[in-house]
Amino acid sequence: MEIQGSAALVTGAASGLGAATAKRLADAGATVFGIDLQQSIDKAGDSVPAGVTLVPADVTSDAEVKAAVDRVVESGVPLRIVVNCAGVGWAGRILSKHGPHDLELFRTVITVNLLGTFNVMRLAADAISRTETVDETGQRGVVVNTASVAAFEGQIGQIAYSASKGGVAGMTVPAARDLAKFGIRVDTIAPGIIDTPMLAGVTDEYRAGLEAGVPFPSRLGRPDEYAQLVQMIVEHDYLNGEVIRMDGALRMAPR
Ligand SMILES: NC(=O)c1ccc[n+]([C@@H]2O[C@H](COP(=O)([O-])OP(=O)(O)OC[C@H]3O[C@@H](n4cnc5c(N)ncnc54)[C@H](O)[C@@H]3O)[C@@H](O)[C@H]2O)c1
Repeated sequence: MEIQGSAALVTGAASGLGAATAKRLADAGATVFGIDLQQSIDKAGDSVPAGVTLVPADVTSDAEVKAAVDRVVESGVPLRIVVNCAGVGWAGRILSKHGPHDLELFRTVITVNLLGTFNVMRLAADAISRTETVDETGQRGVVVNTASVAAFEGQIGQIAYSASKGGVAGMTVPAARDLAKFGIRVDTIAPGIIDTPMLAGVTDEYRAGLEAGVPFPSRLGRPDEYAQLVQMIVEHDYLNGEVIRMDGALRMAPR
């Protein structure tokens, strides 16, 4: 799939992996629309790269995501690339000395990470399905979702996050199968520990501990390495229905 001349919709685009992806796709010639919450867009301020338009929307809202997708369609540039990076994570055990896990907290993590990813995928796929095909195979577009290595080996306290990311990983094959007849590929990236604003506040000692746990290269991943993998997936027409770990061979310990 050619990036140049395509429109891309990236969620969570005001920060971290989404921001790096929006920039990389714009640099590669895409017309990029980024979805994020208003407060995160305000925080991003003037740092939004050229070629990226941020649109306030909550990924869990039918109406807001529909409006954002309409905005892309109205640009006249065919929507072909969708990258789901919006996500949240809270720590909490099923049972701790404070009692059972808060049910609303669990619901929120599932709603943003899993339902939000599904919501964007279904509405964006509808728009992509209305575009012309780009090649003799009938290809129209590609969706890249973001899971986490916590989908496979969640740590103590990651029950809600792991469940949500396991759901994202699990959607990959059925989504690829559902959307095959529209010429839309679906792949998922499962990152290890990436150096995003989430880690900005940690001590040097804590960071060194995280880095030491990564076999090779023994450092945190960089947001642009995630964006590079998105670009590779978009450009590689035979990658479909796959969950790709990007983690320096990290396998998370229980804690
Ligand atoms: N950074 C890591 O180490 C890491 C590792 C594995 C997976 N991930 C996943 O990658 C994705 C991006 O993470 P990040 O590190 O860039 O985080 P981040 O916090 O820097 O960015 C996430 C963005 O999502 C937005 N967002 C949250 N809820 C939203 C909603 N309801 N609607 C719209 N936007 C919403 C936030 O406003 C924020 O701008 C997340 O899904 C995260 O779970 C990150």
